Amino acid sequence: MLGTGLGQLASEITDTYEFPYQDIPNFPISTVEGHSGKLIFGKLGGKDIMAMQGRFHFYEGYSMKEVTFPVRVMYELGIKTLFVSNAAGGMNPQFSIGDLMIITDHINFFPEHPLRGKNFPTGPRFPDMHETYDLSLVALADKIAKEKDIKVQHGVYVGVQGPTFETPAEYKMYHLLGGDAVGMSTVPEVIVAHHCGIRTFGISVITDLGGFDDPVEVSHEEVQEAANKAQPLMTEIMREMIKRS
Ligand code: HPA
Repeated sequence: MLGTGLGQLASEITDTYEFPYQDIPNFPISTVEGHSGKLIFGKLGGKDIMAMQGRFHFYEGYSMKEVTFPVRVMYELGIKTLFVSNAAGGMNPQFSIGDLMIITDHINFFPEHPLRGKNFPTGPRFPDMHETYDLSLVALADKIAKEKDIKVQHGVYVGVQGPTFETPAEYKMYHLLGGDAVGMSTVPEVIVAHHCGIRTFGISVITDLGGFDDPVEVSHEEVQEAANKAQPLMTEIMREMIKRS
């Protein structure tokens, strides 16, 4: 599942079958600039792969059921591992723009829970979340990053509804609460994947910084540009992980 400005990996998939979202019954259609919106099936690193280029965000007006519908489809098609990427605002003072942050945990700040309502039989009513991001995949990412001399950070991703970026006080608050990066995606899809028993790995590209003493402006264009710049390194890690996992 490829995030804002991070679609490059999809172009490396071979033997592809591509399905624009608008051609798939019941699929929502992505509306944000920078998301081209298609499901791509094919091969990458010797593995059968299904890529979702462009995702659905809660701020676009979709319900949580719609936001996470593609994960249900992935589950029904038998995927075993979900790799997610996103652009996020860094709040940890150790972070710089362009850093890659391996997601070790998340904090769910979305106003509606994706599992609200009748429980799907893919998992329990009250799912355990003690290891939502697979530790062996985190270890594999670390190993690959070390081999390739790519600097990676680890951290907690805070999922918020957007569409506003955070005020300086909000960045500070999310950091105080234990977050290292904040973004408007990922958490709903990861919760549903986890409920389906799918192993999950997530990586954030830090595209802007908030919560520091000197508040700075942030824009979608800036986020896209920073994500694009950092994407070759993220792609390298993801590509190798897919091959080895
Ligand atoms: N906040 C929320 N979402 C984001 C940010 C941010 O600073 N950067 C990229 N996505």
